[in-house]
Amino acid sequence: MAPTPHLFRPVSFRSVTARNRITVAPMCQYSAADGLGDDWHVQHLGARAAGGAGIVFTEATHVSAIGRITPGCLGLWTAAHEALLTRLATLISRCGAVPGIQLAHAGRKASVSPPWQASAPIAPEQGGWVPLAPSPIAFADGHTVPHALTPGEIGEIAGQFAASAAMARRAGFRIIELHAAHGYLLHSFLSPVANRRSDAYGGDLAGRSRALMETIDAIRAEWPEDLPLFVRLSCTDWVDGGLTIEDTVTLARALARRGDVDLIDCSSGGVSPAQRIPSLHPGYQVPFAERVRREAGIATGAVGLIRDPHQAEEILGNGRADLVILARALLADPAWPLRAARALGVTPELPVQYSRALLS
Ligand SMILES: Cc1cc2nc3c(=O)[nH]c(=O)nc-3n(C[C@H](O)[C@H](O)[C@H](O)COP(=O)(O)O)c2cc1C
Repeated sequence: MAPTPHLFRPVSFRSVTARNRITVAPMCQYSAADGLGDDWHVQHLGARAAGGAGIVFTEATHVSAIGRITPGCLGLWTAAHEALLTRLATLISRCGAVPGIQLAHAGRKASVSPPWQASAPIAPEQGGWVPLAPSPIAFADGHTVPHALTPGEIGEIAGQFAASAAMARRAGFRIIELHAAHGYLLHSFLSPVANRRSDAYGGDLAGRSRALMETIDAIRAEWPEDLPLFVRLSCTDWVDGGLTIEDTVTLARALARRGDVDLIDCSSGGVSPAQRIPSLHPGYQVPFAERVRREAGIATGAVGLIRDPHQAEEILGNGRADLVILARALLADPAWPLRAARALGVTPELPVQYSRALLS
């Protein structure tokens, strides 16, 4: 018998086992009200879990109202949010996938309109709010200059992450991914482009990592030891003077040494409109996942322009990452895992209600 393709081999992190390596990336839907999702979110995540993915992440789920990117972003800061997220986690589990939640704070990229309204800044006097950041440097022209957080306020935000983690645990999520990429709050602390502080939260990489490390401490105090914690990083800022992959390897080693972070989700960019990505080719971020995995000795997820099942199989089979994380391919086609299984010659696990799809 031919060996099972890597893409369809189960994978375990702590007490959690996913049926395969296909992971639904966090994808904002910008369709919540006051952070509360609705039927849209139910069908979006339910379809992808029923489609056969191994792990299904919620979109960026924000720990406070002013930590949202847009007024339509999802949140988790009250019992009402927890109730909706309980429904989502239950549905994802019922479909046979592992429910994961991405916890996030938008930082200085907060208070903008959704992409289909050009992600335009919404000023406080237009119903927006003043965003928060390590330093008072606006993300781009036209954005509100953010409030520079005091050490006490940084601690309060870590407490908000912890409170959301406790609610995520009660809701039934089995993986937390901490969003420290794409220019949002924790990435803005990591990057010298956005962090010009001279106190303990700035300066060298260790100082710039402090907010991230303290947030992980706070989450871990609420998140059970037998459940995994992933961290999404921007492995390079794609900007002169910004974070480099070498910095990321150093940071990933520090995260690996902690022993309480299980995987680095290796993304890139987002901290500055001045970024220049030399080439957007299939798998263009995979070398980051490969290098972090090899040099920091921690599991990684590869993400970015992964569309083809054989491409995904190559990434996993050659030990370049432990998970493949897909956004747009799964947005276009919730049944991507079924097509991938056919392309690789295996039968995927689907909910019993959909088993006749295997014969089609
Ligand atoms: C509609 C949409 C929403 C997204 N929302 C998020 C998000 O909530 N959190 C996040 O970390 N990345 C988000 N991303 C980025 C994706 O997770 C992913 O990193 C990126 O799209 C590259 O993967 P892809 O080439 O498979 O689409 C989003 C991407 C898309 C297309």
